[in-house]
Amino acid sequence: MLEAIKIRRSIRTYINKKVEEEKIEEILRAAMQAPSSKGACPWEFVVVDDNEVLEKLSKCQHRARHIKYANICIVVLGNKDKFIKPGKWIQDLGASTQNLMLEATNQGLASCWVGVFPKNKVVNKVRETLNLPEKLVPYAIVPIGYSEEENVFIDRFDKSKIHRNLYKK
Ligand SMILES: Cc1cc2nc3c(=O)[nH]c(=O)nc-3n(C[C@H](O)[C@H](O)[C@H](O)COP(=O)(O)O)c2cc1C
Repeated sequence: MLEAIKIRRSIRTYINKKVEEEKIEEILRAAMQAPSSKGACPWEFVVVDDNEVLEKLSKCQHRARHIKYANICIVVLGNKDKFIKPGKWIQDLGASTQNLMLEATNQGLASCWVGVFPKNKVVNKVRETLNLPEKLVPYAIVPIGYSEEENVFIDRFDKSKIHRNLYKK
C-alpha cells in the first residue's frame, strides 16, 4: 500500500507554522492529476490563508470548527461550465479531493475533509463567504497545517466485504 494512503488520517489540530508555497503547489498539482469523467477536469480551487476568512469558513457547519486553527484551507469547487453529465462531477471532485489530501500527507502535513456539497445551506454560506459566482459550486473544504498529532494507522481491511464473481451473503 502507498505510505500516504496508509498513514493519512483526519487531523483537526494544527500548530502555528506556515505551510510552504511549494508544498501548496504540489498539493494542487496532485488534486488536478485526478481522473475525471471524459477528462473534463471540472474543478477549481480557492486557497485561503486569511485568518478572517478561515474563521468565517469555520462557521459554515458544526463540524468545521477546526478550519480556523489551520494555516490554510483549500476550498474545492465544481465548475458548472465543465459539467458534462448529471452527477459525474461529484465523483470527479471526490477523486480530486482525495488526491489533494494524500499529497498533503505525503508532504508531512495534516488535513481533514470538511463536507460542503450537497447541503444547500452550507453551499450557500461558503459561496457567500468567498464571493463565488453562480457557476462555481463549493464541494469540500480541506484545512491543512502542520500538527503535533501522529497519524496512527488503523487497519480497516475487512475480508467479509470482498466478493468474487457473484455476491454471496
Ligand atoms: C465526504 C466526507 C465528508 C466529511 N465531512 C467532515 C466534516 O464535515 N467534518 C469533519 O471533521 N470531518 C469530516 N470528514 C472526515 C471523516 O469524519 C473521516 O474521514 C472519518 O471519520 C475517517 O477517519 P480518517 O479520515 O481519520 O480515516 C468527512 C469525510 C468525508 C469523506
